[in-house]
Amino acid sequence: MRRTKISIILKDGKVGEEYLVKGWVRTRRGSKNVNFIALNDGSTIHNLQIVADVEMFGDSLLRRVTTGAALAISGKLIASQGSGQAVELVADQIEVLGDCDADTFPLQPKKHSLEFLRENAHLRFRTNTFGAITRVRHAMIFAVHQFFTSKGFVNIHTPIITASDAEGAGEMFQVTTLDLDNIPRTEEGKIDFDQDFFGKATNLTVSGQLEGELAAMGMGEIYTFGPTFRAENSNTTRHLAEFWMIEPEMAFYDLNDNMDLAEEFLKYLINYALENCMDDLQFLSKRLQDEEKDKKADDRSMELIEKLRFVLANDFVRITYSEAIDILKESKPNKKGQFKYPVEGFGSDLQSEHERYLVEKHFKRPVILTDYPKEIKAFYMKLNADGRTVRAMDVLFPQIGEIIGGSQREEDYDKLVGRMNEMHIPVEEMWWYLDTRRFGSVPHSGFGLGFERLILFVTGMTNIRDVIPFPRTPRNAEF
Ligand code: 4AD
Ligand code: MG
Repeated sequence: MRRTKISIILKDGKVGEEYLVKGWVRTRRGSKNVNFIALNDGSTIHNLQIVADVEMFGDSLLRRVTTGAALAISGKLIASQGSGQAVELVADQIEVLGDCDADTFPLQPKKHSLEFLRENAHLRFRTNTFGAITRVRHAMIFAVHQFFTSKGFVNIHTPIITASDAEGAGEMFQVTTLDLDNIPRTEEGKIDFDQDFFGKATNLTVSGQLEGELAAMGMGEIYTFGPTFRAENSNTTRHLAEFWMIEPEMAFYDLNDNMDLAEEFLKYLINYALENCMDDLQFLSKRLQDEEKDKKADDRSMELIEKLRFVLANDFVRITYSEAIDILKESKPNKKGQFKYPVEGFGSDLQSEHERYLVEKHFKRPVILTDYPKEIKAFYMKLNADGRTVRAMDVLFPQIGEIIGGSQREEDYDKLVGRMNEMHIPVEEMWWYLDTRRFGSVPHSGFGLGFERLILFVTGMTNIRDVIPFPRTPRNAEF
């Protein structure tokens, strides 16, 4: 008999038919005559209930059916007599594929803290919470490709090892094959990268944007979806050293077209989750409510599914950075009437408490901020006529803060070189990038969506380490 996944049985299983299932035991409970085994195979949040006759299988076998053990079970599907499920499988064969020592297996049949699960990241795929997150994450990957494919965008693989710093922020992980115990030096005492693998200093990419722009200048509309790496030493619940980013880049788009696309894209993804991941979202919503029930009503966040629908129902607010600064300066965020970081005025970067205040308290919906001071944004953004702001856009979400960062790009060769010089970006090394502005340059725009920040929002989780299978954060790369 062929194995059937539990998700298929629960959806389309026929009462009276025989099935073979394989999976891991979540719990076993029972009486003298009959045992109930909750089996999960990762295909759904729901377990399949197995009914095992004690006399038929005997104590010595059933004692091996412990939490975490792997089983193959065949039997007949019947309508369940219990109230917890519609159907259950009456076992006629049970094979233990892998024993699991109950005394040393870290996962118990109870709710574990997320911190405990992070410390046991190698086993957390076996839990309801991480299973649900992992399935939602997969659905979002699929939806990203579906959205862009339906719009005629072409997916581009950009390099992971590169010689450039796309954001100009100097937060790169170096890549080298040089012998660290015996680093070759030039006469001036500098590291001699001529002798390195690529004959020059290289690093892990911080963004695929610059290469994406090259592709857009011939393919029209493209998107990347790849891993990006940042050696920013910020140990927060919103930052990873290795995260996944989706970066569309579009020829002939101005900033408004860019904002329209970003809003449509985010709404598409959230709607996709609501239409395709409801079982997992309901589970995650309940988990969140259990966690929040001890908080004061004012501090509790909106119910998860309600929150997702709310984002779909409203237009995002679009205002300039300057307007946002004015609002923040007038605001009284709490009883003391102050932010932890005071709002300095034009030119200062916004802290995530400011971003979240605008979204959660002031407008109560997602906000797109545009036209930031040029000093706090990357070199490639198009300069406005005022000479002091650039055509940047940050999309701010409740609970998350910045979920998307993007801009219209500077398409004018001279202005771009001017900005690069001002910001000490090595112009000669970027000749390939500048060539796009020499040969058939056109207005173009793009943005980057932090994939894990999207997953945080959709799952209602609060720590970015819980929405990626193997988080990379400072001092954390065990496996
Ligand atoms: O705002 P960022 O730095 O923009 C870029 O990298 C541009 N090249 C994008 C573009 O225009 N093509 O990053 C984009 C998004 C952020 O809004 C945030 O969601 C996410 O990437 N992000 C991070 N996510 C997790 N951990 C980090 N350390 C992140 N840094 C940025
Ligand atoms: Mg940004």
